[in-house]
Amino acid sequence: MLLDGARIARTIREEVAPRVAAFDTAHGRPPTLHIVLVGDDPASQIYVRNKERAGAEAGLTVAVHRLASSVTVEDVLATVKSLNDDPACDGILVQAPLPKGIGKHGTELVFDAIDPRKDVDGFHPHNVGLLVQGRAVLKPCTPSGVVELLDRTGHAIAGKHAVVIGRSEIVGKPMALLLLQRDATVTICHSKTPDLVATCARADILVAAIGRPGFVTREFVKAGAVVIDVGINRVDSREQAVQLFGANHPRLAGFDQRGSMIVGDVHPAVAEVAGAMTPVPGGVGPLTIAMLLKNTIEAAVDR
Ligand code: GUN
Repeated sequence: MLLDGARIARTIREEVAPRVAAFDTAHGRPPTLHIVLVGDDPASQIYVRNKERAGAEAGLTVAVHRLASSVTVEDVLATVKSLNDDPACDGILVQAPLPKGIGKHGTELVFDAIDPRKDVDGFHPHNVGLLVQGRAVLKPCTPSGVVELLDRTGHAIAGKHAVVIGRSEIVGKPMALLLLQRDATVTICHSKTPDLVATCARADILVAAIGRPGFVTREFVKAGAVVIDVGINRVDSREQAVQLFGANHPRLAGFDQRGSMIVGDVHPAVAEVAGAMTPVPGGVGPLTIAMLLKNTIEAAVDR
């Protein structure tokens, strides 16, 4: 059974739209999301364009601030500060990753500088702290989208063994916290986990957030498990595409047209053992964007 994230994302966007309209009526302006895009990472360009389009469709104003890859941390911080001080700015999103020159420490400085009330990504330490305590309003979009997906497709979380592969600040860690808050028993796996396959094979709910195409193969998955694929990986080797899908799969036609394809972290053959599984594309990706719109209206109303 494929979990139709795109359909659920549409429903969430339809729920957000009247709240956006009500805000507009009450305040004489739509809720406004500001996106800061630094550099020219091709995937980030696409993600930001999709966020812009979905926001506009829901009636939000979305402003994109493009900064050159050569900017300093101070330049990015100055942009964030001006948005913090702008009373007509409701939400701020700095698209990750920032260019290498900014560094890990620089990225932390930038995310820490965002006003927590405008932090629609839920990455600020204040909001992460609230998340740990189970009382966050602005929760990271991808993991909260996964919880919505499970809820709205009737997959219980309480009492289940959930295994999250990946411990990133954006997905893995907040995903584990949200599942724990919903009374799952949670295991977090990562690159140093010794018995990865056996651990994953005990999961009732398996969340893959690794960033490696087709990494999660059949032996990782217990029969009937719910498998959530957070990966968005571009494959541009035809040989690798054939390895993943087999030589006769209809998706190879798309590869031949474009010279590349987007695949998840979960191998397509997992569909034969999983009870339910998210497709890539059309699974978790659209939900991330829908939850961003939801966070933007929450931030606008809450402030
Ligand atoms: N890059 C990849 N995913 C995300 C996200 O959810 N938020 C931001 N700001 N950057 C990202």
